[in-house]
Amino acid sequence: MLNRRMLLNSGLATAGVGLTGAALVPLLTARDANADATATGAAPAPAPELFRVPLPVPPVLSPVSTAGGVDVYRMTMRRAVREILPGMSTEVLTFNSSFPGPVIRARSGRPVIVHQRNLLDVPTSVHLHGASTSQHNDGKPMETIAPRDTRTYLYPNRQPHASLWYHDHAHHLESENVYRGLSGTYLLTDTIERRLPLPTGVHDLPIAIRDAHFDDAGQLVYTMGDRARQTLLANGVPYPYLQVAARKYRFRLLNSANVRSLKLRLADGSPIVHIGSDGGLLPRPNPTESVFLSPGERADVVIDFSRYPVGTQLVLQNTTGAGPADLIGQVLRFDVTHTAYDPSEIPAELRTLPPLPKPTAERTITLSMDEGGTGTTPPQGYIDGKVYAPDRIDSFIRYGASEVWTVTNLNKNIPHNLHLHLVQFRVLERNGHSPDAAESGLKDTVMLLPGETIKLQATFDTFRGAYLYHCHILDHSAMGMMATMKIT
Ligand code: C2O
Ligand code: CU
Ligand code: CU
Repeated sequence: MLNRRMLLNSGLATAGVGLTGAALVPLLTARDANADATATGAAPAPAPELFRVPLPVPPVLSPVSTAGGVDVYRMTMRRAVREILPGMSTEVLTFNSSFPGPVIRARSGRPVIVHQRNLLDVPTSVHLHGASTSQHNDGKPMETIAPRDTRTYLYPNRQPHASLWYHDHAHHLESENVYRGLSGTYLLTDTIERRLPLPTGVHDLPIAIRDAHFDDAGQLVYTMGDRARQTLLANGVPYPYLQVAARKYRFRLLNSANVRSLKLRLADGSPIVHIGSDGGLLPRPNPTESVFLSPGERADVVIDFSRYPVGTQLVLQNTTGAGPADLIGQVLRFDVTHTAYDPSEIPAELRTLPPLPKPTAERTITLSMDEGGTGTTPPQGYIDGKVYAPDRIDSFIRYGASEVWTVTNLNKNIPHNLHLHLVQFRVLERNGHSPDAAESGLKDTVMLLPGETIKLQATFDTFRGAYLYHCHILDHSAMGMMATMKIT
């Protein structure tokens, strides 16, 4: 087992070995409807029955110590076996045997320490996505935890509330490790957020959505650019139901898929109130028919089920991406089972964002990937025309600078997104227009459809050091779409 896995992983190190021109097509048309899974020769996944299991909510992790105003946690990365498809055992990679990982709840101003023990047979590196940490606590690709080792991460939480997530970031392995289960939610709150009368407690639930490809033995299949990841999982299970009261609920939606973007809507087209993005609450609530999430992005939403009579069943649908509608077109079902008193409210003003400082520097960034059949050459991904090299610094940034980045996706058919470590940024423009309400808040990951250009502004006034920026379509970052900025 160990040898086979080591072999598989070393194969990955050469980025895309074994991919043929035909197998690449799925990446190029990832947003097409009705992709043909059999084109890749994939065995069909056993179709799970819809809405048969309840939505699991990952456990909130308890600290082992809170002494001195620091919450200390222990996590162990280990293999586990889960019944994901009915009657089948699937091997997954977990934090604390939980798939996805346990939830950490943290508060601004109160540091968190996580001791991460790696009982897997692959190196890992744990990154807290969206967090401002010192560089050696950022889960750098080369600063890995060897099998049987432990590493301690310090998260100062000197930033406002935000729905963050943690995931593996080991060089060339992160895409497969995350796919096999190494991700979890980290909810950072602060007094600004806590004084709002938003739904809390059991009415505030994280929902991580991703896709997966199972072979006919129920095992997760990982190949880069796989078009046959067509089973959607919500908190690790396919097509669950959630019993809700006829009242408001807050959902912390996360797209934890490697490649697939999601466009989520309620089956009846009624409004979802979008209240937050990657970096916390939006200035104002944004009632919308659909919420778009590219891989790595989060959306904080409130759904008011009081408009439905008890007995209503309402499917949360996905309306974008390749795959058969019965598999990728629905995520979960809300079952309104009872009435309830609801003291929660959505205030008309949620937060005031800090004013944007005057920019001190400008920079252009291009994203691209080999497009079209490249024959025998494995495809590569580029930022500014370069494939990732761990010891090269691609951008030098002056400490304290507030930079405007003009970012362009040069591809004609391939979507990309851009994630910056260390900072939460603002989207200033999308294709020359101001962004819509969904992008009015703080972001750490931004989608770029083929040919699109965005402008973002980020201020680098927290830590000095070397940090990553990359496409968060993890199959792409594993193909080289990653770069390093150094704040000096
Ligand atoms: Cu979500 Cu570089 O990470
Ligand atoms: Cu990140
Ligand atoms: Cu990409």
